[in-house]
Amino acid sequence: MPDAELESARRQPDFDAAIPGCTETPREVLRFDRVGLSYDSRPVLQDLSFSVKAGETVALLGPSGCGKTTLLNIVAGFLKPSAGVALCNQREIAGPGPDRGVVFQSYALFDWMTVEDNIAFSLRCAGRPRAEQQDVARRMAALVGLAGFEKSYPYQLSGGMRQRCGLARVLAAGPSVMLMDEPFAAVDVQTRETLQEEILRIQATTGCTILFVTHSIDEAVFLGSRIFLMLKGRLGAFDEFAVNLPLPREQSDNRLHAEFLSVRERVYRAMRHAPGKEH
Ligand SMILES: Nc1ncnc2c1ncn2[C@@H]1O[C@H](COP(=O)(O)OP(=O)(O)OP(=O)(O)O)[C@@H](O)[C@H]1O
Ligand SMILES: [Mg+2]
Repeated sequence: MPDAELESARRQPDFDAAIPGCTETPREVLRFDRVGLSYDSRPVLQDLSFSVKAGETVALLGPSGCGKTTLLNIVAGFLKPSAGVALCNQREIAGPGPDRGVVFQSYALFDWMTVEDNIAFSLRCAGRPRAEQQDVARRMAALVGLAGFEKSYPYQLSGGMRQRCGLARVLAAGPSVMLMDEPFAAVDVQTRETLQEEILRIQATTGCTILFVTHSIDEAVFLGSRIFLMLKGRLGAFDEFAVNLPLPREQSDNRLHAEFLSVRERVYRAMRHAPGKEH
């Protein structure tokens, strides 16, 4: 992908702090302060506190039912905490907003719309001119490797291409935070690796902050600048791992790097020896 194309996708100048090589201290984008959430008075999250800075990719790892999707839904504004406070860009999260985009596991595309119209959906809702919709849709399609497929319908795309289209649709809205809930679970291993590299390339260019849920340790280590390992029954507690892989992060060789292997082993051991583990 040409650098100029990537650069043109970077539309939010205050994200410069997140661009690799920039020495400014990145600002805080997300903060959870003693957040709790109960379903029908059954606590799922309790006293959960953390903060995430602009440009970080935080991978959420943990067994089924430990509360990963619940956490993401709080950030997305779909769920309101039962206790504590959740902030996005220094404001309490009161509901969904254009500063947060959600990439679902299922593609969630509109089958009756072309790729271009799917991608430009948020701009259409915002009443932006047709020419601007087309321009943004074309740029985002190119960014995710879908150039030439703008007039195709979802049924004419492969699973990986549909997932790229869903990603482009979220990017078109220009969110400062991208929330991804196992977005690549339905695609084959090779496509999954390509999409992971794509995510990191887009992330480095746009400087957006990513919260990424996965069940795969390898995916968490490859994508995450930090990993939160959540465990069932521990509610608000989680183990944290920093991942210091070489830049550019998207290089596939990173999967063989000593840091990758070392973090992967530490996460694996923590999972195996933790209370409430499923394995
Ligand atoms: N709408 C709901 N009503 C009641 N309980 C719920 C609801 N949604 C989730 N739960 C419960 O909350 C807990 C956490 O669910 P959550 O979906 O956040 O887990 P998860 O970590 O995303 O799991 P998975 O890896 O299987 O997707 C589970 O015990 C689940 O049964
Ligand atoms: Mg889930």
